[in-house]
Amino acid sequence: MKQFTSVKDIASIGKALDLAWDVKINPFADQELGKNKTLLMIFFNSSLRTRLSTQKAAMNLGMNVIVLDVNQGAWKLETEKGVIMDGDKPEHILEAIPVMASYCDIIGVRSFAGLENREFDYNEVILNQFIQYSGKPVFSMEAATRHPLQSYADLITIEEYKRVQRPKVLLTWAPHPKALPQAVPNSFAEWMNETEYEFVITHPEGYELAPEFVGKAKVEYDIKKAYEGAHFVYAKNWSAFSGDNYGQILSKDRAWMVDSEKMALTDQAFFMHCLPVRRNMIVSDEVIDSSSSIVVHEASNRVVSAQAVIREMLRSL
Ligand code: CP
Repeated sequence: MKQFTSVKDIASIGKALDLAWDVKINPFADQELGKNKTLLMIFFNSSLRTRLSTQKAAMNLGMNVIVLDVNQGAWKLETEKGVIMDGDKPEHILEAIPVMASYCDIIGVRSFAGLENREFDYNEVILNQFIQYSGKPVFSMEAATRHPLQSYADLITIEEYKRVQRPKVLLTWAPHPKALPQAVPNSFAEWMNETEYEFVITHPEGYELAPEFVGKAKVEYDIKKAYEGAHFVYAKNWSAFSGDNYGQILSKDRAWMVDSEKMALTDQAFFMHCLPVRRNMIVSDEVIDSSSSIVVHEASNRVVSAQAVIREMLRSL
């Protein structure tokens, strides 16, 4: 595997699950594979789970790990081509990428959407520059439009907890005080659309995701109908995608918060969220503190998804 930026980089959902179960059964089986190999993790944005789980995954594979927080101690990087560099950014990413690549064997990149320019974000300019100029296998640790390691962990979690062969999985928008990217819901939708699950998305009008991510999902604007009979409720906030509203907050309606009343409409659904989560904005304390909440196990599966991907990359070196 030379890159991992979306579900398309794994042959099939079945293959993804086989790789994951293999890692779960014996996480330390491939310690020799990563010996004397270095993973460089580059963060343009903050992280708790991705940082720790990916580092743990690499350590399980016997790798060395270097972590760079670009905005804390590194030179500010210019990312646009052709600019006169007379501002506050002393280094261009076009030199920085090959230099960083010379110190490692595999690169993980976290770079969120800026939410100012939809074309720049949806062209994945920064992630693609790493793929183009590093000459090394590159995986996304959440980019502008997708968070594939999270979605992979979400899939593993659903497979572990599902009580019926074809569960109803609901992705619901929920309110948040700040404008957030669409990467997590886009990616979750993309992965769910590769399964045989009944997949439903609900959100207020105006929060439609890009059609290529919605795919064959049913979009249900009636929130009660959306929750009815669900086996998994996956909550996430996102900002508007469409038209001139790109990156804007259109609603902070707390009627969309996941609470016990809505969960009572489900078929004893499990509650999921990628974390970090704003309690009593996205989800009530009652729901996230209940036995239906599987958010911590979901986060623990981030080690498994990262290890499965890095192992495939090591095998391709
Ligand atoms: N879910 C997730 O990616 O968490 P972090 O932002 O803390 O890495």
